[in-house]
Amino acid sequence: MRGSAPPHQGEVRNKLVTKNFRFLRYRAALASGLVTLTLFACLILCFRSALAEITPASFLVSPYLQAGSEPGADRVKVIWATPADGREGYRMQWRPAGKADWSDCSKVNCMPVRHSPEVFLLSSVTLENLPAGKTFEYRIQDGNRTIFQSSAVAPLVNSDNCKFAVFGDCGWGSPAQKQLAYKMYKDGIDFAVLTGDLVYQHGRTGEYLEKFFPIYNCDSASPETGAPLLRSTMFYAAPGNHDLYNGSFGVSGNFKLFADGLAYYLFWDQPLNGPALLFGEPNATPIAAHEIALAEFRSEAGTHFPRMANFSFDYGNTHWTVLDANPYVDWSSQKMATWLEEDLKKAAKCKWRFVAMHQPAFHSGNSHAHEQQMRAVAPLMEKYGVDIVFAGHVHNYQRSYPLKFKANQWQAPNFLGHKIVGEFTLDKTFDGKTNTKPNAPIYIVTGCGGAPATAERELDIPEKRESFTATYAAVYSYTRCEINKGVLLLRQLAADGRELDRIQITK
Ligand SMILES: [Fe+2]
Repeated sequence: MRGSAPPHQGEVRNKLVTKNFRFLRYRAALASGLVTLTLFACLILCFRSALAEITPASFLVSPYLQAGSEPGADRVKVIWATPADGREGYRMQWRPAGKADWSDCSKVNCMPVRHSPEVFLLSSVTLENLPAGKTFEYRIQDGNRTIFQSSAVAPLVNSDNCKFAVFGDCGWGSPAQKQLAYKMYKDGIDFAVLTGDLVYQHGRTGEYLEKFFPIYNCDSASPETGAPLLRSTMFYAAPGNHDLYNGSFGVSGNFKLFADGLAYYLFWDQPLNGPALLFGEPNATPIAAHEIALAEFRSEAGTHFPRMANFSFDYGNTHWTVLDANPYVDWSSQKMATWLEEDLKKAAKCKWRFVAMHQPAFHSGNSHAHEQQMRAVAPLMEKYGVDIVFAGHVHNYQRSYPLKFKANQWQAPNFLGHKIVGEFTLDKTFDGKTNTKPNAPIYIVTGCGGAPATAERELDIPEKRESFTATYAAVYSYTRCEINKGVLLLRQLAADGRELDRIQITK
């Protein structure tokens, strides 16, 4: 009979060991499961807590920085737009980066804007007592909920170093505009100066909402969408013809054609230190509108209109003079020339002096060839040692040799401007490499920020260019400048990363 023999002592021990091992394995699995569950629960809690911390509001325009009418190193203005049925009563707070406590800002101003395809609320608040040149954080509170948060660097003063972007002719909504916005964001800049034609075709409120803010103030950064630049970086802008004028029809300021034109005066908030122009005066932006539309626009634009078209500001060791170059402005008139001269005199305290405007004084090619009205300011650029005059309007990149100009004939103007011809003295010894000390201002056209680039085939041949043009490239690109004390490195950078031009200026 087959009976079961009593288990051997070793077998008993083995069984016990196996049993214990299984038990331990189950216990480990249980513990591991519990850990996983705990981690999962933590993740959910963190996610919910993050959601609770920042609840995005439905901004029409996400908060963006502006210098404000009275700029200072310790202050910036933050502006945003919400739908007309949105809530008022948001609070703004800020704190130095790395600090725990938030400080309340002054009351948020909120204004309904009717100068738009649809009424919206434009809110603004000034952040004061900021640490100059240092990073700070700011947030918008709706009750106890944070609906927006960002960080930025307060404007620099008395700094020997800064880096900035210059470009124009940008608000087209094109893939190139988005790629360039992303590139500037990745490259890193302290501030940007735009040389006009900010949105196409007619500088309208609706066009800003579609082709400007969504790209330069995009929530995420990518070459396909743009970048969150405006919320963290100060942009300054000269007005172009597509912003304020556009020919004899005064299209941008013709509210009978486009009821939401001249949005430059609504969305930008820049220093009010230009010539004290009044509506209807010579040199002020003209408007054609019915009485009610005009009154509505003027009440919403406030003191910005028409004075803000010209202004100046300092950033670090740079002084910037921003000019309205549209042909309704006569820069040879006493009022305008006197202001410009006084401003450039004051600029002597800064090591570097720049001028930004839209229509260039000097450029090669058939595009806008007859619009030379800004040659009127060339003698003042030379007299007060302006280093570079930046312009746009022509949709490519051009750099002149250091250039002195003496006008000898002013031809009759037409509605787009007029020709001023004269004699040029060029410093062709300057190459920005072996000789880095120009003896006159350099004139740069950087009008390839997103609107279709204008390639003029004959300009590929240097001999076919005007004698003063040293470099030309019809490529979507922006001008990047890095200043380190008395050394300025200027590069023209394409959206795809190519370096189209490079010069160094030393002083
Ligand atoms: Fe233009």
